[in-house]
Amino acid sequence: MRLKDKAAIVTGAASGIGRATAQLFAKEGARVLAVDLPGKGLADAHKAHEAVATLEADITTDGAPKTIVDTAVKHFGRLDIVMNNAGIGSNALGEVMSREQWDRTLAVNLTAPFFICQNAIPHLRDCGAGRIINVASVMAEGTDYGLSAYCASKAGVAGFTRTLALELGKFAITANYLMPGAIKTGMTSPLWEARPEVADIWAKKSALRRLGQPEDLAKAALFLASADGAFVTGHGLTVDGGLMLRV
Ligand SMILES: NC(=O)c1ccc[n+]([C@@H]2O[C@H](COP(=O)([O-])OP(=O)(O)OC[C@H]3O[C@@H](n4cnc5c(N)ncnc54)[C@H](O)[C@@H]3O)[C@@H](O)[C@H]2O)c1
Repeated sequence: MRLKDKAAIVTGAASGIGRATAQLFAKEGARVLAVDLPGKGLADAHKAHEAVATLEADITTDGAPKTIVDTAVKHFGRLDIVMNNAGIGSNALGEVMSREQWDRTLAVNLTAPFFICQNAIPHLRDCGAGRIINVASVMAEGTDYGLSAYCASKAGVAGFTRTLALELGKFAITANYLMPGAIKTGMTSPLWEARPEVADIWAKKSALRRLGQPEDLAKAALFLASADGAFVTGHGLTVDGGLMLRV
């Protein structure tokens, strides 16, 4: 029960890393507001987990960051942990990237998470040991063809998280980001199931010779959310099985 009596928000929680994290946080004693888009089976995903409440919302719509934070505080009377996990992939060569794709990628992956943090700050101050955990990517530091918008969004997450860590430390709030490697989730499974050889390449590239599972990230998030992570702030935690060790 490492999160006993804590209240958390986890976005992008109908699937993958967010779903696993919401359920692990609940198992460890937290009450959790799980957020995801309408039509993604969010309530169904958590129906066996009493401590998980659900809210269907597009995090990019006007007023959504405030609604999400207000809903959590209304449900739980407090807010201790914010996990900005919702995200989208984005693949287009720079020379043909549309303005629409660029804007959408940054809106979901970067701008909405920042404003969810901003709305949460007063409540994280009040609880005396607030935790911000933002999900970036190893692509915050690396890159590949077609990833200019995705890399920009994730490098942005790393940058604003470090800044919040600096600004909020005096309130005993920590702010960290996770850098997942190749993880089997709703984002990657469609491609990997259609082309198993691609999944195999990613698995073999990692030092541990396997793909990551959502639970691998949930456990890292739990460390940062719990008292064990109290002196870790402004840190980017790579959770990639050693994928990025080789240059
Ligand atoms: N899977 C990987 O290999 C990998 C690697 C690095 C980083 N990540 C990051 O991990 C995070 C979680 O992704 P995942 O891999 O679990 O994928 P996923 O697709 O299984 O989960 C992402 C969830 O975010 C939700 N979402 C997307 N846009 C949203 C919006 N506007 N409002 C609310 N919810 C929205 C989706 O509906 C989905 O349920 C993302 O930020 C992603 O960029 C994933």
